[in-house]
Amino acid sequence: VLISGRGSNLQAVIDACEKGDITARVAVVISDKADAYGLERAKKHNIPAAVFEPGKFKDKNTYELEIVKVLKQHHAGLVCLAGYMRIVGDVLLEHFRGKIMNIHPALLPAFPGLHVQKAALDHGVKIAGATVHFVDEGCDTGPIILQAAVPVREDDTEETLSARILEEEHKIYPRAVKLFAEGKLKIEGRRVRIT
Ligand code: GAR
Repeated sequence: VLISGRGSNLQAVIDACEKGDITARVAVVISDKADAYGLERAKKHNIPAAVFEPGKFKDKNTYELEIVKVLKQHHAGLVCLAGYMRIVGDVLLEHFRGKIMNIHPALLPAFPGLHVQKAALDHGVKIAGATVHFVDEGCDTGPIILQAAVPVREDDTEETLSARILEEEHKIYPRAVKLFAEGKLKIEGRRVRIT
């Protein structure tokens, strides 16, 4: 699981694995930030963790090669981006194509990118939500695995809406990982069939 911060989605996946809902385990947590709270979560659950700060590498390829090395050392079969705030580059994609998932706090393809809960509110949408998708070279553009809708309330602020979306994220991300672990996801062009 790749993180940049709080790691609440990481926690949801760890919990689902520990409860036996998912027949898998989090092999390693990798953060691009040394102070990411998700690193504490990994420690608490005795999960190996590593920090790679992109600024310390000569370029993105070298940075990602280091990540790939660690993922392979830990025999990772799936890479979960969980609040990992970077665009995945060629190196990671080349080694894990079709095996990288991301959670995004909007109903894609609406509102890709950053600060999307505020963008959805400002746009006046009545239904917001969350998306789990496979990662391709674009920003939040890959084939969609699962989505959850969250109705917007009249008195919603960015904070209240984000909190309700996050609750749904914590449900659909472990579900998507479970489907992957059970071999039930088939990518056919843009569509992900759940078999
Ligand atoms: C989550 O809301 C996730 O969907 C979002 O960042 C938050 C991370 O929270 N990701 C993105 O916006 C990616 N573009 P967490 O660290 O507590 O899981």
